[in-house]
Amino acid sequence: MKDIIIMGIESSCDETSVAIVKNGREILSNVINSQIKIHEQFGGVVPEIASRCHTEVINQVMKEALKEANIGIDDIDAVAVTQGPGLVGALLVGVSYAKGLSYVTNKPLIAVNHIEGHIAGNYLTYKELKPPFLCLIISGGHSHLVKVKDYNEFEILGKTRDDAIGEAFDKVARVIDLGYPGGPKVDKLAKEGTPNIKLPITHFDNYDFSFSGIKTAIINLHHKNPDINKADLCASFEQTVTEMLLNNVKKAVQEFNEDKVVLAGGVSRNSYIRNAFDVFSKETGVNVYYPEPVLCTDNAAMIAAQGYYNYINGERADLKLNAVPNLKIRG
Ligand SMILES: Nc1ncnc2c1ncn2[C@@H]1O[C@H](COP(=O)(O)OP(=O)(O)OP(=O)(O)O)[C@@H](O)[C@H]1O
Ligand SMILES: [Mg+2]
Repeated sequence: MKDIIIMGIESSCDETSVAIVKNGREILSNVINSQIKIHEQFGGVVPEIASRCHTEVINQVMKEALKEANIGIDDIDAVAVTQGPGLVGALLVGVSYAKGLSYVTNKPLIAVNHIEGHIAGNYLTYKELKPPFLCLIISGGHSHLVKVKDYNEFEILGKTRDDAIGEAFDKVARVIDLGYPGGPKVDKLAKEGTPNIKLPITHFDNYDFSFSGIKTAIINLHHKNPDINKADLCASFEQTVTEMLLNNVKKAVQEFNEDKVVLAGGVSRNSYIRNAFDVFSKETGVNVYYPEPVLCTDNAAMIAAQGYYNYINGERADLKLNAVPNLKIRG
């Protein structure tokens, strides 16, 4: 069978990325231009600056992706682009660029949901992984527990009722002056601490999550006692949020008799969470998967991987494609 080569384009937040992926599984290139250094000084992503930075670098990033993959633009079969969710101005840069590229090269245009892309990051790390499986999406803007029924078919079992888990990591880091982006900094400092601080746990009858209570508890603890041991606070925070994640996953594994649990999104880079899920796997025999670190956070290879499955499913976008900042995962 002929190989299918997809170019992925990602610009939903503060990473401009273009990747070339073969048959949805093999990365030929994955160029990521991160704007972290620019946004760091503001303590978070400034949307207007993000859009301008994407515009400045996207063409160069695309050229580098082709060069690294050692192919020409004529060798690709389709252009896949993140349509949403994300920052509207940032998304528009990628969507407009992809439409232009599709038009001049006469290659099909494929729209990709960024969150479905995060899930597909796993197909690049585990060549044998196939749906159905249970997926925990823990990212900067989402906390979803999803049944992945097929490559293009999903059912959301639960989601956060307030903050996303990544937002909570970033907020905790900001409150205790660790800087931006907070997740990796909390991860590092927690290794020096002991989880000896009691924090609130949220339970719901269904599979929803809530992370605003624990975030507020940490803000209050720090305000009342600015000398509190930050490493212990980070370790306690990680232990408590992991317990909340595992509670819902264990419940769903039992109810639906799942034998595969897949993690996705930026927070699945967290070493404590990965380790806790590895322990869960050893104890229960349930297979646990998480993408290699660079494929957890935003990148275009995951967009090309999901783009491949959309492509072989016959999905095509046209030049009317628009960015959708609150795009929902397909039900
Ligand atoms: N080691 C880590 N531990 C915990 N959190 C982490 C780690 N590394 C990255 N993160 C978090 O991952 C998030 C960024 O990645 P992600 O792709 O999930 O974000 P996003 O694209 O902004 O959100 P979304 O994908 O929901 O639109 C941030 O919240 C960041 O703090
Ligand atoms: Mg993301």
